[in-house]
Amino acid sequence: MSQQSQYQEEEESGGANAGPILVEKLEEAGINTQDIRKLADNGYNTVEAVAYTPKKALMAIKGISEQKADKILAEAHKIIDLGFKSATEVHKRRADIINITTGSKNLDGLLGGGIETGAITEFFGEFRTGKSQICHTLAVTCQLPIDMGGGEGKCLYIDTEGTFRPVRLLAVAERLGLNGEEVLDNVAYARAYNADHQNQLLVTASALMAQSRFCLLIVDSVTNLYRTDFSGRVVITNQVMSNPDASAGPYAGNEKKPIGGNILAHASTTRLQLKKGRANLRSAKIYDSPCLPETETTFAILQTGIGDPEEET
Ligand SMILES: Nc1ncnc2c1ncn2[C@@H]1O[C@H](COP(=O)(O)OP(=O)(O)O)[C@@H](O)[C@H]1O
Ligand SMILES: [Mg+2]
Repeated sequence: MSQQSQYQEEEESGGANAGPILVEKLEEAGINTQDIRKLADNGYNTVEAVAYTPKKALMAIKGISEQKADKILAEAHKIIDLGFKSATEVHKRRADIINITTGSKNLDGLLGGGIETGAITEFFGEFRTGKSQICHTLAVTCQLPIDMGGGEGKCLYIDTEGTFRPVRLLAVAERLGLNGEEVLDNVAYARAYNADHQNQLLVTASALMAQSRFCLLIVDSVTNLYRTDFSGRVVITNQVMSNPDASAGPYAGNEKKPIGGNILAHASTTRLQLKKGRANLRSAKIYDSPCLPETETTFAILQTGIGDPEEET
């Protein structure tokens, strides 16, 4: 069975990862088709996205009155339970979370098993630290079967720097024994030319992710973000600059901080700081995480993507 048809079958059967509820579902709750269309056109493609949104934001959509917004939210909240649940239930749900391998065992170990789906992971570091190489590797590994460290899904790739190279995907595919053509077909790519365009692409991305089995959205690199309706599955990279607030003196300028400041910090669940090491070696450190210690490890940039230092040829 090809990778493609495998995904389709799972989509149809639903299963443990049945995914988000499409906004069209609100029609059954008495919301009219035109209003649903307006929601979708503004990036609210799932009932979840609607339910998480404040009334004011819905009223900002042309043609949605306060009365309509109240009704839409009331119906969305009937479908999506935003109330309390027991820690036991949260614990059980977290056990179902899929992790996607980065290609490096060291890096996976640092991340507690790989990139967590249902969360935003941010890699930040100076140029040449391996951010884009990690993105290319993840675009392929996310397609692997779950028991091989994948997410059995497709990938959306937003590139703001023009550094996306399909040959890098093919090199990773070859190492993993995947069919190169299928791997490329499973990556939907867009180049973002400015912040407005990037936001437009993110709206489209949220629609695609609601409709098909995309298990990973990559933004390399993020300049101006962020919308909240991706229900996770996002990897972003971020350039760093020398911290202008760093104190003066002989050691000034060593402190590197990610661009984007607080906005991005709040959008990211796990933040990793990358640094350049000797030759093709790079270090990664957990900079912020809700449940991982601030440990550090070393990985390598290989011809076949991200790997470990001992794989060096
Ligand atoms: N085919 C390849 N084989 C090995 N290393 C590569 C290959 N392509 C790029 N690299 C290395 O990757 C590094 C750049 O990593 P990159 O992920 O683009 O950095 P960043 O996105 O953080 O600026 C460079 O050191 C480059 O030599
Ligand atoms: Mg890059």
